[in-house]
Amino acid sequence: MHIPVMLNECLDALITDPKGIYVDGTLGNGGHAGEIFKRLEAGGTLIGFDRDIDAIERVKEKLFSSEGKRVELVHDNYAHMAEQLDRLGIDKVDGLLLDLGVSSFQLDVAERGFSFQQDAPIDMRMDQTQGQTAGELVNTAPEAELADLIYRYGEDRASRRIARAIVEARGKNEIRSTLELAAIVERAKGGRKGKKTHPATQTFQALRMAVNDELGGIEQVLETMIERVVDGGRMVILTFHSLEDRMVKQFFGRHVPREESLQQGGVRRIYEEPAVKWIGKKPRTAAEDEMAVNPRSRSAKLRVVEVGV
Ligand SMILES: C[S@@+](CC[C@H](N)C(=O)[O-])C[C@H]1O[C@@H](n2cnc3c(N)ncnc32)[C@H](O)[C@@H]1O
Repeated sequence: MHIPVMLNECLDALITDPKGIYVDGTLGNGGHAGEIFKRLEAGGTLIGFDRDIDAIERVKEKLFSSEGKRVELVHDNYAHMAEQLDRLGIDKVDGLLLDLGVSSFQLDVAERGFSFQQDAPIDMRMDQTQGQTAGELVNTAPEAELADLIYRYGEDRASRRIARAIVEARGKNEIRSTLELAAIVERAKGGRKGKKTHPATQTFQALRMAVNDELGGIEQVLETMIERVVDGGRMVILTFHSLEDRMVKQFFGRHVPREESLQQGGVRRIYEEPAVKWIGKKPRTAAEDEMAVNPRSRSAKLRVVEVGV
């Protein structure tokens, strides 16, 4: 089951006008989307995106247009959100929510190949209709590229050793399954060494982020959607990885006006248009009781900005 993370915190931050237009860029199981829809009043619109068709189908079964509210579900990468809004004839929205990463469904269905706990072909694509699989990447990428991505996205210091082990193994036989890959990584790292997490955790995360170009998508959606949120509207972003959080923090940081003193006296505000302000100085984290029941919430960071200041 996928339990929505920091549900009330996200929704309280997002909804400023119950008759407004809200976008959930990461439908997943529709946990947040269902709650947005519930809080909307007649005249309100919910637009949901997911690049995983299974998520769209699942949410379609649960969420219907009703009580004068409009629902649009879009199977696409949120990187293309602005074009999709154009297609729907929507110029500005009142708020955007992104709950980044993979859903529990994607992790739990063995055939999707995200998990090193179940044996399956190494796929890891969120959108199974296009792109390279993680298996193709693992079996064809140059050693230096593998090492770089494991270091960058997985933040694993053993990246070179892991990449070398992968290249050696694939030289003998194609690496076909998630368990095979997990065992190669585990051997390269010299076993578990008493750690709780599996030694392949970071490598799997890195491959997932690479095949789905996760950071590229985040940058694109932030850059295009900041122009499409009304003044006073909110952008609410939940991240689960330090690189994602850094990207979100730095992106909005450039749009928060800061004052610079001028030599001739007075001050000038420096920022990239449109200006935003942080709602809450620091990112929020889940409450202790939520962390106790939903392990996924433990690494969550919630950042919220209001557009137009
Ligand atoms: C953590 S889940 C969202 C869970 C959801 N908030 C809920 O409460 O049920 C993230 C979802 O975002 C989707 N996703 C990730 N990157 C995406 C992208 N670039 N474009 C569209 N959907 C994406 C994934 O397929 C996954 O279903």
